[in-house]
Amino acid sequence: MAGAVNVTGTTEEADVLSNDLVINMLQASYSTCCMVSEENKEIIVTPKDNGEVRWSALDPLDGSSNIDCLASIGTIFAIYKRVSDGEPTEEDALQPGNSMVCAGYALYGSATLVALSTGAGLNFFMLDPAIGEFILIERNVKIKPRGKIYSLNEGYAKFFHPSINEYLRHKKNPEDGSAPYGARYVGSMVSDVHRTIAYGGIFMYPANEKSPKGKLRLLYECNPIAFLIEQAGGLATTGTQRILDVQPETLHQRVPFVVGSPDDVNEYLSFVQKFS
Ligand code: AHG
Ligand code: MN
Ligand code: MN
Ligand code: MN
Repeated sequence: MAGAVNVTGTTEEADVLSNDLVINMLQASYSTCCMVSEENKEIIVTPKDNGEVRWSALDPLDGSSNIDCLASIGTIFAIYKRVSDGEPTEEDALQPGNSMVCAGYALYGSATLVALSTGAGLNFFMLDPAIGEFILIERNVKIKPRGKIYSLNEGYAKFFHPSINEYLRHKKNPEDGSAPYGARYVGSMVSDVHRTIAYGGIFMYPANEKSPKGKLRLLYECNPIAFLIEQAGGLATTGTQRILDVQPETLHQRVPFVVGSPDDVNEYLSFVQKFS
């Protein structure tokens, strides 16, 4: 395959192929008036009579740097009701996550799973390749109040705010005699988030000196995952604000992202407060 370059500057051919696939399927579904994708600088407007009521935000392939080493990757989406009449514009797509009506991710791991919520709890569906159908395997999934795993790219520690490093030190060397947390980091957010929902714990991509807003994108990474985590009884925060209440200003904006078991996220927030 010839190398292709996406809007974020990476050269993953699979990103571009997945993007085409997802956009074509959504356009052909007569259900989406416009889309925001990681791989497209501008909004993608569906031809007029191809669906009027919904718009979607997409990360067609998450974790694409993990493809060559065969680690798990995923797809993330969010669906909203459109708020205006006429030709969809960028303003239509700049709605906060709290107006989302549906979100989900697909995880291409040792099995293929779809996590889906329409706002009435979180459900897991597993692909049964024998019949080509997704089977409901877990209804109304709930995250543990507290886990035993922390997950982030700790290689950036030199550039973290002291509150993060103090929190991490506490996870590794608890003063209260409790057991230290285990560390896990795949580097595919869908994998790291799915493990966090399944086993409990905390996943974070905080701001650092080199990336003052972190790396993850609000519209098609953080918001849909925040919606799903909250549906499972977890929390999702920037450190100072609930993710779903962040008012988007641009399509591809980044936000610091901390999600997981409620007691773990609240413990992290207590470290933020100590340093503020
Ligand atoms: P994408 O593959 O959609 O560009 O997303 C990559 C993201 C996310 O999946 C993961 O959490 C993060 O990049 C890892 O970044 P670092 O390599 O900086 O840890
Ligand atoms: Mn990318
Ligand atoms: Mn991604
Ligand atoms: Mn991606």
